[in-house]
Amino acid sequence: RITLGEKDPAKVKLGSGDRTKEVDYASPNRGTRVRVYGRVHRERKQAQVLFVTLRDGFGYMQCVFTGPLAKTYDALTLTRETSMMIMGEMWEVPAGAHAPDNRELHADYFEIIGKAPGGEEAITNKVQAKGDAQTLLDMRHLVLRGETASSVMFVRDAVEHAFNTAYHDLHYVKVSPPALVQTQVEGGSTLFSLPYYGEPAYLTQSSQLYLETAIPFAGNVYCIEKSFRAEKSLTRRHLSEYTHVEAELDFITFDDLLTHLESLICTVLDLVFANPRIAAMLKELNPSFTLPSRPFKRLRYADAIDWLNEHEILNEDVEPEGSPPRAFEFGDDIAEAAERKMTDIIGVPILLTHFPAPIKSFYMPRDAEDDRVTESVDLLMPGVGEIVGGSMRMYKYEELMAAYKREDMDPAPYYWYTDMRKYGGSPHGGYGLGLERFLAWLCGLHTVREACLYPRYMGRCKP
Ligand code: 4AD
Repeated sequence: RITLGEKDPAKVKLGSGDRTKEVDYASPNRGTRVRVYGRVHRERKQAQVLFVTLRDGFGYMQCVFTGPLAKTYDALTLTRETSMMIMGEMWEVPAGAHAPDNRELHADYFEIIGKAPGGEEAITNKVQAKGDAQTLLDMRHLVLRGETASSVMFVRDAVEHAFNTAYHDLHYVKVSPPALVQTQVEGGSTLFSLPYYGEPAYLTQSSQLYLETAIPFAGNVYCIEKSFRAEKSLTRRHLSEYTHVEAELDFITFDDLLTHLESLICTVLDLVFANPRIAAMLKELNPSFTLPSRPFKRLRYADAIDWLNEHEILNEDVEPEGSPPRAFEFGDDIAEAAERKMTDIIGVPILLTHFPAPIKSFYMPRDAEDDRVTESVDLLMPGVGEIVGGSMRMYKYEELMAAYKREDMDPAPYYWYTDMRKYGGSPHGGYGLGLERFLAWLCGLHTVREACLYPRYMGRCKP
């Protein structure tokens, strides 16, 4: 090894680094000596020169090894994913050449920190897309090091941050409801149950009921927590464990709820795109994405049924199972396939409202003008379909008691939820947004699985 020049130059991060606004790791001046740490993202050996793209999570940097340094044993045997320290001087990239952020580090010293294997065991052999999605999921821990998979994770981080910022700017209070519960929210069929010190318990399907109980002390509230669904089908948009962005708004009308949703989505998108690093990633991931314009299209369920029939989209989910497809009728659930077709044809976000009571949850109040339907809303996005489900909530004691009865639910375990109506009920409403579905829409992903660090769905609980 050869050491040239200054002994211990400043340690800098790679890339143009706007991960924090306060620190600009980004731009060591050209000509400055720096010390960088990272992993070998790519390496290219030429006769006299070794090019290394180093990665540290903040970004990438092209590092150039020339002369005797390029001939050292460690340089000649350098493998992808090896972690290392490099010292050298920042240079401008010669005209016609390309490098991240248009600069390169001319190395004069380096140390190998953790050598990665080459040959059979090389990372490229482990994660090469062999067209087999399952292998790639088994190797997810290595796949995540790639540019596409990791940029989805960076966008995810930015989106979650943007939701927190948007809510805090609105003075919503964040709370953290429990994941282990003894009540259901969205029907018994998708409950994961587990033994809990000799009592039955479930993994929560939604934090909604708990969020509602926080309203009386906190006013408007939100949470970003995991929800769990024992979904027994494999689709592009169903997970067993997903991140649920949920909020409850106090003293509102149904129309207020719709307006809030629209405004929240647009604020979050503005915040996300205001980050240049994330905006650049989104341009790569989903070049055709366009920001939705406001107001969002509003469509009542009954009109959607007419629209489906006018467009000859059939209901393929007819009971009993195996029945032939038929035209939609009022009261039918609009299942994933039909919903997606409709959303893709309409091509803009849709606030689909006023679903019939029998196909919706027990807590949803009826519409004052049409007793058949509820004050409920789904937000549908092209390419994905439903990303949000929400509604007003029953807030009168007798109304809720009647709903338990109608649904054949024992009110006893829900005493804490019912008490919200007993001790000062208020007209309130809320919603849940599936973060992975939002990301699938924003990043143009084929499935919500790609939006998870480690997806969980029927048949997969590893790594
Ligand atoms: O429509 P859902 O079932 O509504 C509720 O859970 C309400 N209690 C939420 C509330 O009002 N606080 O689910 C809400 C959203 C869906 O629109 C979807 O985006 C997401 O949660 N979601 C799923 N995402 C991935 N995998 C699944 N299995 C999901 N189930 C629901």
